[in-house]
Amino acid sequence: MEIITTTKQMHDWSRSQVAAGKTVGLVPTMGYFHAGHLSLMRMAGELSDRVVVSLFVNPIQFGPGEDLACYPRNLERDQEMAERSGVAVLFVPSTPVMYPEPPETRITVARLGAGLCGGSRPGHFDGVCTVVGKLFNIVSPDLAVFGRKDFQQLAVIRKMTADLNWGVEIVAHPIIRESDGLAMSSRNSYLSGPERSSATCLYRAIVKARELAAAGEGEVARLLAEVEKIITVHDNVRIEYAEIVEATSLEPQLRVGPDSLLALAVRVGVTRLIDNALLLES
Ligand code: PAF
Repeated sequence: MEIITTTKQMHDWSRSQVAAGKTVGLVPTMGYFHAGHLSLMRMAGELSDRVVVSLFVNPIQFGPGEDLACYPRNLERDQEMAERSGVAVLFVPSTPVMYPEPPETRITVARLGAGLCGGSRPGHFDGVCTVVGKLFNIVSPDLAVFGRKDFQQLAVIRKMTADLNWGVEIVAHPIIRESDGLAMSSRNSYLSGPERSSATCLYRAIVKARELAAAGEGEVARLLAEVEKIITVHDNVRIEYAEIVEATSLEPQLRVGPDSLLALAVRVGVTRLIDNALLLES
């Protein structure tokens, strides 16, 4: 596996792959790999000839007071894990490489990026779209793989890619969960023992909402009341949002339909966790 740290080297490597007739799959990450990341890398490997994993903790997608400074990092371990997953290139640019000057340009996906996490983290998706756009330009991938845990991120990136004719296929990977249902996330490493136990409330709330919807409960307000009951029982958990939206438009719904998605963002202690699921998915 090659480690590349400059945009020029990365660009030249990608051009050499195109010249050799190889397809390139990109997995954009912020590092601190877990089984979910490895699964994205494997999927990229199944769908393309060469896999590039980018590892960059992107400062412009963090708001003031968020966890940029303490975001978990372990490059040596990440390197070994990526290598074992058959990755061809680990692209690890520094902040001055990605942003040699303070960037004045942002990509905004206006409507899809406005609600849910966009509401509680103003400017977050502008930062995500801008860095993903830069990575698309630097790596020129044929496809890019993103996890469904960040459902809104996936929707926003799909829209950006279509609106700007990027010609990159956006591939969605299912959520990878721990055995007790907690969605895997690098931020789970922040949780204390008691917080880790409480954190299963997101998945328990999802399971309950899906059971009720499958049994015919169609009132969104009643489903959300059940979800809130399960989550707020824990003293160390606070709901940032719990919404049922239409999965494509992300518009809030009053009644459950075939594409209803339950989207959750909660604070467990100070750690912000998100999760989501289609309510009527078989
Ligand atoms: O999902 C993430 O890890 C980040 O938002 C991404 C897509 C790598 C952009 O920094």
